[in-house]
Amino acid sequence: MPKPKIFITRAIAPEAIAKLTEVADVEVWPHEMPPPREVLLEHIKTSFGIITLLTDPIDASLIAAASQNLRVIAQMAVGFDNIDVTAASNRGIYIGHTPGVLTETTADFAWALMMAVGRRVVEGHHEVQQGIWRPWGPNVLTGQDIFGARLGLVGLGRIGQAVARRAIGFNMDILYHDLQRFPEAEKATGAQFVAFEELLERSDYVSLHTFMSPQNKFMMGQSEFACMKPNAIFINTARGGLVDPGALLWALQNRRIAGAGLDVFETEPIPMDHPLLKEPNLVMTPHIASASKQTRTRMALMAAENVLAAISGNRIPYCVNPEADSFSKGK
Ligand code: DGY
Repeated sequence: MPKPKIFITRAIAPEAIAKLTEVADVEVWPHEMPPPREVLLEHIKTSFGIITLLTDPIDASLIAAASQNLRVIAQMAVGFDNIDVTAASNRGIYIGHTPGVLTETTADFAWALMMAVGRRVVEGHHEVQQGIWRPWGPNVLTGQDIFGARLGLVGLGRIGQAVARRAIGFNMDILYHDLQRFPEAEKATGAQFVAFEELLERSDYVSLHTFMSPQNKFMMGQSEFACMKPNAIFINTARGGLVDPGALLWALQNRRIAGAGLDVFETEPIPMDHPLLKEPNLVMTPHIASASKQTRTRMALMAAENVLAAISGNRIPYCVNPEADSFSKGK
């Protein structure tokens, strides 16, 4: 019997590729840039499984072209907003993702941004590097304290909770807002549930840790930034589409907030003529919050585990759409 065909849209950790190669006919897209649509189309028509990244748009028309044989699309990310899950479920195709393994790494990075922006690390680095180091002065590069400040977490899921745990060591007062309450996490971290507006009004640091959905697109618009304190720092390591970039620019330019740290953008990469790029009180990174060697290997192995389970005829362990079951009979 021929081995099932698996297409991987980037060179993920070799350990994961090796596991798949034992039982499958594996093809890896070798380039750094994502495969073009024609390549995805070609593979979706012939593969049993595909491992995707969040830069691969897997929309309904692509899924409509999939062969009857396509069983699993295993995303190597916790988020899957690049995939039309409903279209996949309707065709009995499982969507996998990698929850949990990137939690601590992403929380570390949210903290890296909080500290870099709050304490003006990048501006200081540039002054040293460019030879414009000013004499020590009472007002030179003064930032915002983190120790003892108030942290507002928008979303207290896995990553939000990991950020909150770190905040205990900084003696921070923690507020959160979410669609649901998390009583255990409230007990463990002292986080207090408040309305979204109250969180914005009272927090010194506001950090987003929520999934992207059509309902929360641009949840941070001009009126939300206008509620924030002028000393507040805004951090986004979740999804770029949660923030209206024009509103953030307005808030920074008008000193409605003290600074921001962004790892994610509405359009990635951000266009080089975007006015946000000129803002001094903004630290930007290219969507690397989960980018530690250890975590990226764990994510790849988890995506491979999803594909391997499907090859063995089992329900995939990290499944986004168990409802695909009811459409998959007869495959
Ligand atoms: C995810 O997994 O959704 C992250 O954005 C990638 O690090």
